[in-house]
Amino acid sequence: MAEPIIQLKNITKVYKVGDIETTVLKGVSLTVYKGDFIAIMGASGSGKTTLMNIIGCLDTPTSGEYYLLGKDVSKLDDDQLAEIRNKYIGFVFQQFFLIPYLTALENVLVPAIYSGESIKQKEKRAVELLQLLGIGDKKDNKPSQLSGGQQQRVAIARALINDPELILADEPTGALDSKTAKDIMEIFVNLNKKGKTIILITHDPQVASYSKKIIKIQDGKLIV
Ligand SMILES: Nc1ncnc2c1ncn2[C@@H]1O[C@H](COP(=O)(O)OP(=O)(O)OP(=O)(O)O)[C@@H](O)[C@H]1O
Ligand SMILES: [Mg+2]
Repeated sequence: MAEPIIQLKNITKVYKVGDIETTVLKGVSLTVYKGDFIAIMGASGSGKTTLMNIIGCLDTPTSGEYYLLGKDVSKLDDDQLAEIRNKYIGFVFQQFFLIPYLTALENVLVPAIYSGESIKQKEKRAVELLQLLGIGDKKDNKPSQLSGGQQQRVAIARALINDPELILADEPTGALDSKTAKDIMEIFVNLNKKGKTIILITHDPQVASYSKKIIKIQDGKLIV
């Protein structure tokens, strides 16, 4: 049996805005194993990002249990969650979220600053990652001097700099044309082949088809 990386047990999430409460997740249970490559699909507003934020320790559930690598993370404080994110999770988003005044190389190094490891060591790794992703020659470019696909490669290198167990990607191809989207999905497939566990959100069946397993979210529940 593979090792479970993520165990969600009966997770709920209620948002309260003014007097109005919205229950977005209504008892979500999910086990993700090392080496899985899962695509989460569902209509706009169905709770995909809400679920991803909980899995990524960016937010906490209203109720339920969440074990990440066997550790109960549902009741940790913000500092403890930040440490776990930095160590175990790499994030890739639709809008890249690169820092505009830093070069590609410096952007990749941002999560390394907080990792406590030697920056010199990490710089070597950052250059290697950019080369691996086919943009080694762009390391000194600022984000505005890169195409969308190149910016997403920088963001993927940044997600990999601390060698995380888990990669979470929320619509990573949403801002890219279909050819570039295909290239980016092939990068995820290769990372998965090298043993990375990947969870990806997409509304695009073509993108989802690169995953090993598709899970749908509907009315606050998962349909596996
Ligand atoms: N911080 C928040 N406060 C209040 N309500 C929120 C908050 N974040 C999300 N919601 C609500 O929760 C529901 C689910 O939002 P979520 O962002 O998870 O959807 P999604 O499936 O990712 O949609 P999309 O495909 O459009 O990105 C929506 O109705 C949204 O309005
Ligand atoms: Mg979303």
